[in-house]
Amino acid sequence: MRDASVEGKIAAIVDSPTQGTSRFVRACLRQPVDRTPVWLLRQAGRYMPEYMAVRKHHSLLDICRTPEIAAEVTITAAERLGVDAAIIFADLLLPFTPMGVDFEFLAGEGPVVHTPVRTLDQVRALRTDRTDELNYVAKALEKVAHHFSAPRADGDQLGIIGFCGAPFTLASYMIEGGSSRNYIETKRMMYGDREAWPLLMEKLVEVLVTYAAQQVEAGADVIQVFDSWVGALGVTDYREFCLAPTTELIRRIQALGVPVIYFGVDTASLLPSMRETGADVIGLDWRTPLSEGWKAVGEGCAVQGNLDPIALFAPEEVLRARVHEVLDAAGGRPGHIFNLGHGIVPGTPVENVIQTVKWVKEYGAR
Ligand code: CP3
Repeated sequence: MRDASVEGKIAAIVDSPTQGTSRFVRACLRQPVDRTPVWLLRQAGRYMPEYMAVRKHHSLLDICRTPEIAAEVTITAAERLGVDAAIIFADLLLPFTPMGVDFEFLAGEGPVVHTPVRTLDQVRALRTDRTDELNYVAKALEKVAHHFSAPRADGDQLGIIGFCGAPFTLASYMIEGGSSRNYIETKRMMYGDREAWPLLMEKLVEVLVTYAAQQVEAGADVIQVFDSWVGALGVTDYREFCLAPTTELIRRIQALGVPVIYFGVDTASLLPSMRETGADVIGLDWRTPLSEGWKAVGEGCAVQGNLDPIALFAPEEVLRARVHEVLDAAGGRPGHIFNLGHGIVPGTPVENVIQTVKWVKEYGAR
């Protein structure tokens, strides 16, 4: 079921003359491009002085929840780096609030959920009817889309990326109460509670589809689904407990009329199964050479990646060689989006990030 405005959005994407001019969207759809498009995971983050200047006066959640500031941070990063796509500034955990799960970000610790969700009754109590409260993300995205509505100097339309978490990765934060090493509580529920786990997956999918629809309606060209910690699962468990809900999420986002990028870390053994979700693009981490990762997901799928983010600390010759290596592995085939294998970390030299984007533009030209 879609409302009329989403239908309108789909028609606009299908018919849009600008769609053909965004090399980022074209690459997601495995159409030929004039050069490999590039953007970077966590391109607006603590490595960037402009972001830190904003962070000095606002908490992470304040930034996320204030559309003017979230839009400004998103736009500044994309323009500073000269990338081909802007990812909306938000966080994976924002949907927890309307579900009734309180959390905060503690300095040096990352996200903390004060009352982790570990019982069937707690899962039953999760709300799925308040997702409208997340509309501040759509409002920020609308501002970003408006800002980038005119083509750039080279005639290319900047891609606008919305995002959400995947059911497993979000469930892991909810159940563990924060980041985790061994995912014991998550797997305890997954293996041991045949009612709570499927219900949790179902509720997350419900909320995430609505959240993604808000972003598409606001102007997102593509949705990226982050399954950052799915690499904690073996193939059997991924297939038994996560493949179906993740597939449902991805198919329902695609039905909104946008391509989906599905990304995880440490996924070498999971890639063929991740491909079964039907995602248009699979995000590869840096541990698998891009050509092998692409072989694992198959030619009928686009790939995004996969420079080691820590290579951004390397001397110039080494960094340039690694950038070239990724582009050589892609071999100019349609359906490659240059990116990192995971997010830029704090302390990364900004000039190396900017230089990397320049090298991709030069070396990735057809
Ligand atoms: O340009 C961008 O990509 C920034 C937008 C963005 C943020 N979070 C802002 C943020 C995006 C795309 C995310 C997604 C996100 N959030 C993921 C998936 C991406 C990934 O890295 O795998 C995850 C796992 C989270 C959860 C999360 N948020 C963690 C684990 C942390 C703490 C880790 C850290 O880097 O400190 C955050 C905080 C966070 N979210 C920061 C930013 C810029 C850094 C903290 C800050 O500014 O105070």
